[in-house]
Amino acid sequence: MRTQVAIIGGGPSGLLLSQLLNRAGITTAIIERQSRDHVLKRIRAGVLEWGTVEVLRSAGVGARMDANGLVHQGIFLAAQNRQFRVDFKQTCGKQVMVYGQTEVTKDLYAAQDAMGTTIHEEASDVQPQDIDCERPFVTFRRGGQSFRIDCDFIAGCDGFHGVSRQSMPSEKRKEFERVYPFGWLGILTETPPVSGELIYANHPRGFALASMRNHRLSRYYIQVPLEGRAEDWPDQLFWEEFKRRLPSEATARLVTGPSIEKSIAPLRSFVNEPMRYGRLLLCGDAAHIVPPTGAKGLNLAVSDVHYLSEALKQHYDGKDSHALDAYSERALARVWKAMRFSWWMTMLLHRFPEQTEFEQRIREGEINYIAESIAAQSTMAENYTGLPF
Ligand code: APR
Ligand code: PHB
Repeated sequence: MRTQVAIIGGGPSGLLLSQLLNRAGITTAIIERQSRDHVLKRIRAGVLEWGTVEVLRSAGVGARMDANGLVHQGIFLAAQNRQFRVDFKQTCGKQVMVYGQTEVTKDLYAAQDAMGTTIHEEASDVQPQDIDCERPFVTFRRGGQSFRIDCDFIAGCDGFHGVSRQSMPSEKRKEFERVYPFGWLGILTETPPVSGELIYANHPRGFALASMRNHRLSRYYIQVPLEGRAEDWPDQLFWEEFKRRLPSEATARLVTGPSIEKSIAPLRSFVNEPMRYGRLLLCGDAAHIVPPTGAKGLNLAVSDVHYLSEALKQHYDGKDSHALDAYSERALARVWKAMRFSWWMTMLLHRFPEQTEFEQRIREGEINYIAESIAAQSTMAENYTGLPF
């Protein structure tokens, strides 16, 4: 088999890259380790920067998002039993769209099916080959048979645990990492969201976040110790802790109900440099991981894909390969700015083991400063709604 761009990974990065390239007449083949059902069962964040909204619309997958997504023009920060609103429109003139990543992935799969794109699901032993040669290829096994796809480029869109990053020679790449000493316990519940916009709460007992998927589906999180397991948290215990950490004006409106999904996710900041080696180019979680606090994971994957798809189009249009040569540096410049913001929000809102009361007061002091400063709110708003591509 032969294609122009072989894409390892059928998550948001791989699917969106394939969709943008196919619409420009560039052939692709996606090789995905899991089944489509497995990929679509993943519960992930749901805040889209407006740049992401525009890329999805340009990819022809914006219809359901525009019909079902929720436009949000602010968020709430809370501490010391008080909450205040950071108004995006008033401070930076921008907004975000609340629309679950699962829905984005569904829309991308449907669009790729409509284009007749080849997606090899449930592939095993996937291996990028000859990535430092002019004619790379990917080998994999499926249904007991071995396959080879010859290509011009390989896009490593296979996430943090994928094979692509590890295929780069270790002496040719550098990793930067910070692992946080806590996790997020998240639940999905068929109850009306406690607030029309997200509430990010700092509390001496730990962080809490009130989010949503739509007007009937709430997504709530509390910071928990890393050693914990989701089964250690019966719903009742979750609700009791969640109520302790939100301001009372919010908990007064809270509608509780049974969880339909419950899981714990670790938090880490991670960057692999560079994002290219030879004919292998990394996108999304394969190259970087952000703590979910700033809702940047999917949005950084989209900006990587935007840069890479534009560079590949220029290459195939016979113009030049300057954009391809600049891809890693251009993508990393935006990655590090979002990495910094996600780190800053995580440090501001969470309780750290062994933190002193002085450190908690400093966090509360910074949140109170943001509450009183339009300049501070503008800085937060322009980062949260997304820096320019
Ligand atoms: N071979 C083929 N596919 C693989 C391999 C492999 N060796 N390893 C992993 N994959 C697949 C995974 O099954 C997954 O479907 O690659 C895909 C990677 O998808 P994501 O992990 O979702 O990463 P990405 O597409 O970059 O999307 C980033 O997803 O995890 C969230 O928070 C993250 O919102 C961000 C977004
Ligand atoms: C979510 O809705 O899952 C979500 C929203 C905002 C975040 C993280 C997760 O910062």
